Amino acid sequence: MATKKEVRIGLIGTGLMGRIHSNGYNQVPHFFPELEYTPVLKAVCSRDAEKVKAFAEQWGYESFETDWRAIIARDDIDAVDICTPNDTHAVIAIAAAEAGKMILCEKPLARTVAEGKEMVEAIEKAGVANTVWYNYRRVPAVTLAKQIVDSGKLGKIFHYRANFLQDWTISADLPQGGTALWRLDADAAGSGVTGDLLAHCIDTAMWLNGSITDVSAMTETFIKERVHQLTGKVQKVGIDDACLFHCHFGNGSLGLFEATRYARGHKALYTFEINGEHASIRWDLHDMNRLEYFDHADDSVVRGWRSIHISDGDQPYMNRWWIPGTSIGYEHTFTHQVADFMKSLETGEPCSPTFQDALETQKVCEAVLESAATRSWKETGVESFAGFKTELV
Ligand SMILES: NC(=O)c1ccc[n+]([C@@H]2O[C@H](COP(=O)([O-])OP(=O)(O)OC[C@H]3O[C@@H](n4cnc5c(N)ncnc54)[C@H](O)[C@@H]3O)[C@@H](O)[C@H]2O)c1
Repeated sequence: MATKKEVRIGLIGTGLMGRIHSNGYNQVPHFFPELEYTPVLKAVCSRDAEKVKAFAEQWGYESFETDWRAIIARDDIDAVDICTPNDTHAVIAIAAAEAGKMILCEKPLARTVAEGKEMVEAIEKAGVANTVWYNYRRVPAVTLAKQIVDSGKLGKIFHYRANFLQDWTISADLPQGGTALWRLDADAAGSGVTGDLLAHCIDTAMWLNGSITDVSAMTETFIKERVHQLTGKVQKVGIDDACLFHCHFGNGSLGLFEATRYARGHKALYTFEINGEHASIRWDLHDMNRLEYFDHADDSVVRGWRSIHISDGDQPYMNRWWIPGTSIGYEHTFTHQVADFMKSLETGEPCSPTFQDALETQKVCEAVLESAATRSWKETGVESFAGFKTELV
């Protein structure tokens, strides 16, 4: 058997994403055995020595560090995986690029477009492989939606709409900042639901339907002050709790987007729908292995919404998993991204979304926030999405 080329991973951050990425690295050799490159769990980093040691043992890392700079300084690390809060993405990514490491960075790329541009410049100068974990592209049903749109079956697209609804910050007693609650702190997160939830919707939307050219938005912060965990003081809340925007796409279609953490009853209701001249598609994260499809070309007496269960071997990624009729989950999307990243090292193709692609999403997020702040339409400055591919599936 040919010897595998090792990609020695240094993962930073051991929270939700640290766990799910670690699972992905562990699964890939079992389910994508033909890949020339294979991840090796070399080191993991988090600030608490006892906790990171336990994490390393639990997930199979060879060693651990308590300062991310130590990960970057190590000669036995090839790729740095950034699973830390948003305010650390730029500083870690730029240092990793300067050290010649490949980089896998969690979303959103950065807090601002200015930070994102510095990150893109750094990886371009270093010429290192990179990807950003907008994982929903690698839900098999969403990848299939991309293939259907690209096939032209929908015809001219008229409408794209998406929601991302949660309800976990409704209590006014919830503090902001610090462990687990950094998402409520504008300094750490950059923004509220716009960078956290809408960034996913925007990435998927531009992947499926092309560039968003201009936006008109409104945001709301329902709870204006919260105790800050790090200072112990009641402080102004700087994030957007809810955001709605409408927009134009470059292909002439209209977009409508909504995200909130105040939709009582919804935990993570991410849905999108695309309406074309000949057909429509819709998808719902809560039923993630289904794609709904309406085709006007069907015989009129049986015409209606089809509910397609994505589980067969000829559907994206599914030949890797169990048997037709059985399901896979959220965690598999990250395993798929690890596999696609390893494959991209073999083919020399970029693993989308790249830092450059994620910067385009950042531009839309920033235009949305500026539009809401100024109550006016804003151009996004998004250029193109030529690098968005599904060939690696
Ligand atoms: N792709 C997705 O669907 C998805 C889902 C959730 C989170 N995210 C993104 O992933 C990132 C992390 O989110 P999370 O939910 O895992 O957060 P989390 O709060 O669960 O974990 C963050 C981890 O980073 C560590 N950390 C913080 N500062 C550090 C530092 N300076 N050095 C070393 N470690 C540090 C913390 O100790 C913790 O282990 C965020 O950018 C978030 O937006 C993406």
